[in-house]
Amino acid sequence: MNSVKHIKYSELSLLDKALIDKAVAMTDAAYAPYSGFLVGAAVQLSNGMVLGGCNQENASYPLCMCGERVALYNAAANYPTESVVTLAIVARNPKKKLTQPVSPCGACRQVIAEYESRYGSDIRIILKGETEDIIEFESIKELLPYGFDDTFL
Ligand code: THU
Repeated sequence: MNSVKHIKYSELSLLDKALIDKAVAMTDAAYAPYSGFLVGAAVQLSNGMVLGGCNQENASYPLCMCGERVALYNAAANYPTESVVTLAIVARNPKKKLTQPVSPCGACRQVIAEYESRYGSDIRIILKGETEDIIEFESIKELLPYGFDDTFL
């Protein structure tokens, strides 16, 4: 454990830059009329494909769905046999510049952990806000230690 890197966008590999760029592009498609908080996500699959997602809000607030979960569910629904290798999450807040990378909510951490179990491999997570700062995690285990999983069932 403890493979957390604080780096700059310019230090990312070309592949990771492209994944972050896709996540940034996805913020334009965010449906967030209630919070105004725009989240874009992109996943890199084991077959090299890149899929996106963005947050989807609802007038019935508890039904709002986070962008990273939309991206993961998009991948799981369309390419169930491909594992997710990397997940990029980006946010933009028109009301207030995000000076640090956005961090996934607790529910999303649990969902990411589920897919690590399902695929039997770590999912690298790359976070970005509205600056050049990037935080990279080798696995959700860094963000959700001592989590609940199927080994208890
Ligand atoms: N949101 C995400 O999409 N991902 C997160 O990790 C945190 C929050 C969304 C949910 C809601 O649409 C808006 O951001 C404000 O909470």
